[in-house]
Amino acid sequence: MQNIALIGFMGTGKSSVGRLAAESLQFEFVDTDDLIEAQSGRTIEDIFKQQGEAAFRQLEKQVVENLSQRQKTVIATGGGLVADPANLASLKTHALVVCLWASPETIWERVQTQTHRPLLQTADPLGKIRELLALRDPHYRQADALIQTGQRSAKEVVQQVLHQFQIARE
Ligand code: S3P
Repeated sequence: MQNIALIGFMGTGKSSVGRLAAESLQFEFVDTDDLIEAQSGRTIEDIFKQQGEAAFRQLEKQVVENLSQRQKTVIATGGGLVADPANLASLKTHALVVCLWASPETIWERVQTQTHRPLLQTADPLGKIRELLALRDPHYRQADALIQTGQRSAKEVVQQVLHQFQIARE
């Protein structure tokens, strides 16, 4: 088990927790959205706008395939990445897959001031969060460990992630 992959819905803290966990382990940190933007030279918003979600998912899939070459890396993944079971299976070959979980209301509280997520640019974002979360729930539950983030600080969540990684390596 060389790497840690954080999965879970938008706004569950994958990037901030991932960065802190990587720092603590002296691992590299990568975010699949950043890799997609770097490789395509476009923002996620532009990709969604110009080519649509299906094209974004293709780019996401390629990025996931390349991750298997990595070692000592904490990977934060886009919230919809594991809805493709092949992506989750690929992550599991080299990473401990940890899901960060939060209720729709907590997620909404955390993301409502942000505007960079195309899927939430709708008239009823909380409804959309509920709908997507219900659809993705069975995929998120395939993780090796599931951590509730609602009542916990980022630091506490990091401790939980590191604990799970330690157990997995024993
Ligand atoms: C998405 C989540 C986003 C990003 C894209 C689609 C999703 O990542 O990949 O906007 O389908 O849930 P974050 O989970 O990092 O916000």
